[in-house]
Parts: sequence; C-alpha cells; structure tokens
Amino acid sequence: MDDLRQKYLEAIAGAGSEAALEEIRVAAVGKKGEVALQMRELGKMTPEERQVMGPKLNALKDEINSALAAKKEALGDAALDERLKTEWLDVTLPARPRPAGTIHPVSQVTEEVTTIFADMGFSVAEGPQIETDWHNFDALNIPPHHPARQEFDTFYMHRAEGDNRPPHVLRTHTSPVQIRAMLAQGAPIRVIAPGRVYRSDYDQTHTPMFHQIEGLAIDRDISMANLKWVLEEFCRAFFEVDEVELRFRASHFPFTEPSAEVDLRCSWEDGRLKVGEGDDWMEILGSGMVHPKVLEASGVDPTEWQGFAFGIGIDRLAMLKYGIPDLRAFFDSDLRWLRHYGFSALDMPTMRGGLSR
Ligand code: DAH
Repeated sequence: MDDLRQKYLEAIAGAGSEAALEEIRVAAVGKKGEVALQMRELGKMTPEERQVMGPKLNALKDEINSALAAKKEALGDAALDERLKTEWLDVTLPARPRPAGTIHPVSQVTEEVTTIFADMGFSVAEGPQIETDWHNFDALNIPPHHPARQEFDTFYMHRAEGDNRPPHVLRTHTSPVQIRAMLAQGAPIRVIAPGRVYRSDYDQTHTPMFHQIEGLAIDRDISMANLKWVLEEFCRAFFEVDEVELRFRASHFPFTEPSAEVDLRCSWEDGRLKVGEGDDWMEILGSGMVHPKVLEASGVDPTEWQGFAFGIGIDRLAMLKYGIPDLRAFFDSDLRWLRHYGFSALDMPTMRGGLSR
C-alpha cells in the first residue's frame, strides 16, 4: 500500500496537464484502477485482516482523490494565468476610433432650420446655383437698370462672343427658388429653399460664397400675422429658448410689399450671444408680403393668392448660435477648426430629440 501511495502521489505531483491527471485518476481510483483491485482482495481475507485493511484502503483512496482535486485546481489556475497573460485588454481604450470627419456647422444649422420648418409643414425646394438673370432679378421685380442689381455685387458668367442665350449669373440669393417653385407647383405652396449663394465681397463677415434659406408661403388669406408667428416660432425652436422677442422694421425689397427686416432681442456676455433678453437687437433676416408682380411672373394670379416670403443667412445663424467669431474660417478647411466647431455625424437634429445636443 505504501508503494501504491508513493507511486500515485508522485505521478499526481508531476502531472503537466488536466488530461494527464485524468489518466492517473483512472489508473488509481477508477472502477478498474489499482485501488479498486486491492479492494476486491478484501473478500478473500479473514475478518481480522479485513478490519485492518479496509479502512487503510479507504484512507488511501481518499488521499489520492484529494491530491487529484488539489492538483486539478492548481492546473486550472495555471492555465487561467497563462490565458490572462496573452488575452489582455485595455478597457480604458475608446470602444471605437472616433470618426475622423465632422458635420460642418453650416450643414448642421441647415439641418436644424429645415427640421423646424418641416415641422411647420414646409417642404424643401431647390434651384440651380448658376441661374438665369431673369430668375435672379427680373422675375423678382428687379428690372435691368434697377439700382438693386448694383447692390448685389453679382458674378456674371462669361459668355463667348456671339452667344445670344440669356445671361447667367451665380445666384446672389435663394429668392429665385421662389419663382421656380411657384412655376413648377403653383399655389397654394409652402416651401423653404436652403442653398449656396454668391456675391463679390470679402471681409470678416462676408465671403464670396455663403448660405441662405428662403421661405415662401402662398395661400388665399396669408398675412403678415402668419409671417410673424412663423418667424417667432422658428427663433424659439432654433435658439432653444422659451421667450424670444422680434422687432419688425419697415424696409424695402423689390420683391415684397410691404417689406420688413427682422431683429432679434439679445445681449452679449463675454462675447457670447444671449437671445431673448437684453438691450441689443440683432438683424437676422429680410421678409415681407410677396409682391404681386412676383406672383404674376411665377404664373400665380395675385387677385386670388397672397403670401409671405423671407430670406435668412445660414452662416450668420451658425455664428450666432455657436459663438463662431469669423465667417471666413468657415471655408478655410482647417481640420483643427472643423474638429472644434464640427458636429458628430450621429447627432442628427430632430424636434423630439433636440436640435443641437
Ligand atoms: N433675397 C434677400 C437678400 O438676399 C433676402 C430676402 C428679403 C428674401 C426679403 C426674401 C424676402 O424672401 O422677402 O438680401
């Protein structure tokens, strides 16, 4: 028995794997193992011998079993340690690399503005950036020698000698989309038209290309009161404040009568704009009741239909809402600027989820 004990305890101590350990278990204490064979011998013994040998064999079996269990646990720990050494993971690393691109503030604000007006029943209309001077000027009640043509600093497209097609310009505003939308759709109509516009101008608040959003609502009985409500509702939603105060200042645009420029009550705190309170006014848009001549040019009968239009500078809105000081940086494609002022592609503005979170 001492030989058996020594043989198996040594084998167990030297086992290098759980598989080797299992072989030892079968050979020692399995059904046909050596200890079982010895137990079978008990039957041939005298009762006196059996009384001595029985407990001894049982004790040997227990001893081998507990040595097996201890070794199995030790082997398991070693295997785990080995895995932990190779299969490690730095849980402080970001789950996924941050996407390299961001949404430009102009795109973000365009989405925000579109979302707000979509919620009020406006659909999106589009027009070309290279526009006929008829759509850009004449149809908007700005005839060829009207002084407003000079005010616009228009880029005219080059025309080859002998080319008698109507002259084209880079559109100076989104207002020609009003004409196109009404010609295509007639009245009633409720559209907004965001897009790029161009003027020959460059300083801290002007770039030769910038963005506007045009609004147009034509029906049988639309008035300035509707315009005022729509714009107030828009400002509340856009600037994400409960109270806004707008000031309608009499103005002049050839394509509206009456015309109004709209200012927003605000104040400045450490260079940041606070909307809704304070003693300052910030001009944010031009608007008015669409001129009968504009309706006529668009194939809409002005004795039957009327409505309002407005034009907002998108870049200006972005500067105001997100505290961006210089307009020119918008279009420099400086990656540091884009990372700082850009938005995550996963944060689409919605009226329910929030516009700018
Ligand atoms: N088109 C004008 C501009 O670029 C802005 C504007 C003013 C648009 C009044 C309108 C409007 O629709 O009614 O300066």
